[in-house]
Amino acid sequence: MLLIAALRQVLSPDVCKFYVTDCKDNVFFVNTQKSTEGMALSADNCCPMLHKHLFGKAPYRLDIGHQRHPSTMRICSIPKVLVILHRIRKHRMKPIIILAIESSCDDTSAAVIRDGILLSNVTASQRVHEEYGGVVPELASRAHQQNVLPVVDTALKRAGVDKSEISAIGFTRGPGLLGSLLVGTSFAKGLALSLGIPLVEVNHLQGHVLAHFVSEGKADERHPEFPFLCLLVSGGNSQIVLVRAWNDMQIIGQTIDDAAGEAFDKCAKVMGLPYPGGPWIDRLAKEGNPERFQFSKPNLQGYDYSFSGLKTSFLYFLRDNLRENPDFIEKNKADLCASLQKTVVDILMKKLRKAAKDLGINHVAVAGGVSANSALREAFVNYGKRYRAEVYIPPFSYTTDNAAMIAQAAYFKYQAGEFCPIDAVPFARTEL
Ligand code: KG4
Repeated sequence: MLLIAALRQVLSPDVCKFYVTDCKDNVFFVNTQKSTEGMALSADNCCPMLHKHLFGKAPYRLDIGHQRHPSTMRICSIPKVLVILHRIRKHRMKPIIILAIESSCDDTSAAVIRDGILLSNVTASQRVHEEYGGVVPELASRAHQQNVLPVVDTALKRAGVDKSEISAIGFTRGPGLLGSLLVGTSFAKGLALSLGIPLVEVNHLQGHVLAHFVSEGKADERHPEFPFLCLLVSGGNSQIVLVRAWNDMQIIGQTIDDAAGEAFDKCAKVMGLPYPGGPWIDRLAKEGNPERFQFSKPNLQGYDYSFSGLKTSFLYFLRDNLRENPDFIEKNKADLCASLQKTVVDILMKKLRKAAKDLGINHVAVAGGVSANSALREAFVNYGKRYRAEVYIPPFSYTTDNAAMIAQAAYFKYQAGEFCPIDAVPFARTEL
């Protein structure tokens, strides 16, 4: 009984999420769940993990394939349990090091996190799409293939970490461009297989939300308290997410047509600005008058967004004015950008405020590529002051696609023992 207690202690969930589930005739049953009843564990996920954690690559003596519970490990005899205890204690001293890979769109990124502290975050952006006015999927996949090895190599070097020290590989499984995701997923699988370590899949959108928990080990860091609302705004998404825990997120409102970033990019295109247009609009808006022009705002019930009406009204407004004055855009570019930007920010903040008020939530965060927008960031600061709310605005480096957020999400999952099989395939679309 004492041994059971000792085993239970060293196998506590915050260490590696293994539980001593039973003991009969000096046979100890260790599992990844508290109860063995009615569970269907994949031997793929569980057993290699147990091997790795407890024995390294050469298991001491492990019976896998217990009849009732195929992934339950049987540890026979008390001396062996003592050996195992010793090994687990040694393992506890080892840091958790995760290498994460992000390749969902047109940024190849790799990051290394050790015991929850980010050590490196390296991103190679793809310029090749600029001349096409949007991301070309096939070109993106090819660029990922060229970038992934040097990016991962640099991330490991900057972190001062050797491949042999990595505990697990985190990767973005989706949503995103399938070809791009395939490159990152295949690389992650190959590396995990060759190193004999587990894989952790990450949902890209969850990653954006969890970017708020990335820690660089600085004293003045703030992280949101649960529950909080996260406004997730990127080129493909505009959502209000209710975040109850790192693994409990619910979309309570989202765009029914274009995303906020898409609206920025499309309006920028009709003004002749390069792709992606969002940052250009942001830059030009700094010199303009946000009150000069009025554009239509949607009138939707609930917490949903719509940006296609704004895009169309902007387009018609330009067309009408260009008829009378062919230099209209050139002469009014800064005011056009400032007014458009103000409209987008007003739309976003209005629904967020409504959701926060209705749900009585005082902690609000913003995430995704559009969270780099200076007017939106300012609106969040003002929101905090006006409503005495706690607001969380990510550092610029964690706004656009990055592997730091994937590493953070993978770190949470690793601690919870959530691994993914080696035959996992990426998916282009998925909810949170
Ligand atoms: O999250 P993200 O990097 O990736 C995808 O959604 O794929 O977001 C990219 C979007 C683009 O639409 C881009 O125009 C927008 O974020 N964006 C901005 C700013 N920086 C990036 N929009 C407005 N202001 C910015 N400063």
